[in-house]
Amino acid sequence: MNKSFSLDKELKNKISELLKNYKTSLAALLPTLNLINDKYGFIPPEVEPEIAELLNIYPIQIREVTTFYSLLYSKPTGHHRIYVCNNLSCCLEGSQKIINYLVKRFGIQLNETTKDGKFSLYKSPCIGACEKAPAIIVDGIYHYNVTIEYIEKLLSELG
Ligand code: FES
Repeated sequence: MNKSFSLDKELKNKISELLKNYKTSLAALLPTLNLINDKYGFIPPEVEPEIAELLNIYPIQIREVTTFYSLLYSKPTGHHRIYVCNNLSCCLEGSQKIINYLVKRFGIQLNETTKDGKFSLYKSPCIGACEKAPAIIVDGIYHYNVTIEYIEKLLSELG
């Protein structure tokens, strides 16, 4: 197994602090994974044994959670993560056109990252903003009634 990646001291300290807030270490697993995901942009599979040791749980319990939640990543993602909702309301309002536009503009497919590592593109199930379709989430921020022009403006702001 590749041991090139390990949790740094700062992150281990944060996890130790976090553990104090939970009755069981298993209850702290998801917040712990969120910390790691936020810091590195993904959860390197090679740190699972370290996490397991810190939380005194089995590594398989970590894998069960990381493979369940789509917002926890097991491989590096782009600096900016774009989710385009493609459920019914958004689809009716043109989300597929937005996906097609971004796929062509970035030169990638869904679930891929641009060569420069700036953007990752995903299709999402309903994000609960149907009345403002089409809706997208970029870096955790919701954007509504999205148009191609809006996307272009947003991308230029993101750099
Ligand atoms: S269908 Fe897109 S937000 Fe609900």
